[in-house]
Amino acid sequence: MPRTNYRGFLVSAKPEFMANIILVGAQWGDEGKGKVIDVLTEKADVVVRSQGGNNAGHTVHVGGTKYVLHLVPSGVLRENKICVIGNGVVIDPVGLVKELDGLLAFGVKLEGHFFISETAHVVLPYHRSLDEQRENLKGEHKIGTTKRGIGPAYGDKAARTGIRVLDLVKPERFAVLLEQRIREQNEVLKAFGAQPLSFVQVLAEYQAAGARLQPFVTNTVTLLHDALKRKASLLFEGAQGTFLDIDHGTYPFVTSSNTTSGGACTGSGVPPNRIDKVVGVVKAYTTRVGEGPLPTENAEIADLLHGMGREFGATTGRPRRCGWFDAVATRHAAMVNGIDELTVTNLDGLDTLDTIKVAVAYEVDGKRYDYVPSDIQVLSRCQPVYEEFPGWKTETSQVSEWKGLPAKARSYLKAIAKLTGAKLTIVSVGPGREQTIFL
Ligand code: GDP
Ligand code: IMO
Ligand code: MG
Repeated sequence: MPRTNYRGFLVSAKPEFMANIILVGAQWGDEGKGKVIDVLTEKADVVVRSQGGNNAGHTVHVGGTKYVLHLVPSGVLRENKICVIGNGVVIDPVGLVKELDGLLAFGVKLEGHFFISETAHVVLPYHRSLDEQRENLKGEHKIGTTKRGIGPAYGDKAARTGIRVLDLVKPERFAVLLEQRIREQNEVLKAFGAQPLSFVQVLAEYQAAGARLQPFVTNTVTLLHDALKRKASLLFEGAQGTFLDIDHGTYPFVTSSNTTSGGACTGSGVPPNRIDKVVGVVKAYTTRVGEGPLPTENAEIADLLHGMGREFGATTGRPRRCGWFDAVATRHAAMVNGIDELTVTNLDGLDTLDTIKVAVAYEVDGKRYDYVPSDIQVLSRCQPVYEEFPGWKTETSQVSEWKGLPAKARSYLKAIAKLTGAKLTIVSVGPGREQTIFL
């Protein structure tokens, strides 16, 4: 029997309609989610961010222009789509205003197309300052955060001391809450030996940002459910990646939200039984920015990719650490996210190699692992067991069909999808929209 979804539509690999899809990064972030979201948005109606903040950097190339989105969903570059920042996101209002101004300057239409959840939490300057102070205190054990205040903002949310968007857009209420918070946070900052904040300055800057954002603020839960009633297709844009998940990642070298598929539901108010499928995005190799274990890290491939001018962070500009494709990690990601379909990006990054390695298992202390061990002290000592694949040594960036790819590239892609345990449906061979192969 073909599977149908709750709307009675057939759920197939290439449906005539667009299913409700959660797209997640299945590695350590920067898998190319922004590019893939931009491509998939063509057939979607609503694109939703549900977690993370402006620690994310999602790159989209459209017609020779490069856009880097941090908080606004990558679907915003397509006309007549609805873009939503959900309740699970932490929003730096000043950063968001800058991002919106940049989009407006490019002629992007926001009015009536862009909405911000009233219950999303606000990132404030004390969060950024605390993020930096904690990193400094950790010294060589630092996480390597983006210093965007993400951890402290989610910390306040969990401690129930956060300020939300619905507070921000009410100037008097915001002033009262901010005064209390700054009084407490300045004591903490002073204890770190850091500069205390001026309530008056922060108030003025954030009230101004609040006033700019106010027209976009709404109850996005009911907005999304109204869209579901209209049978609109929703596309959830994951930020970060599976191994940066606060629960499933390489703790403590993680971000502070649930980057795995479940986070899309809690971070938007759309329940799991309204989701049709989960798409995992991976690079054809592995990258990580920041500290923490990366079992397949390899200097040779890092030098190759950096030499090509690739793999520098979209948010902080830091060079990304690089390694071979890690099928142990992606198989684990397929398990915790429920990945149905796999998109492989950056295939073209491997075009010049003679031999390509893939980790198929880890070994440590004579024990073999086919999943990612939870204890990072164990993970840090894991030695990858590699399988080798012959390189295709042909440029792939102009290829537009599966059959046009070199046979060795197709074998490599089939092998990594099989090892991951998901169906390969999209291959990306360049940053542009047109450099996308559908299977
Ligand atoms: P995200 O955070 O997952 O959206 O990924 P980033 O935008 O941070 O990093 C991915 C980088 O790879 C960006 O510079 C993209 O433009 C680029 N990119 C995505 N897919 C491809 C591809 O198939 N080939 C090449 N050469 N670049 C790609
Ligand atoms: P996108 O959405 C890659 C990393 C940081 C650091 C750790 C914690 O572009 O894939 P944080 O500032 O979140 O407290 O930093 O997480 N990190 C990312 N790495 N891509 C991202 O987002 C990331 N967002 C955070 O480098 O190691
Ligand atoms: Mg990124």
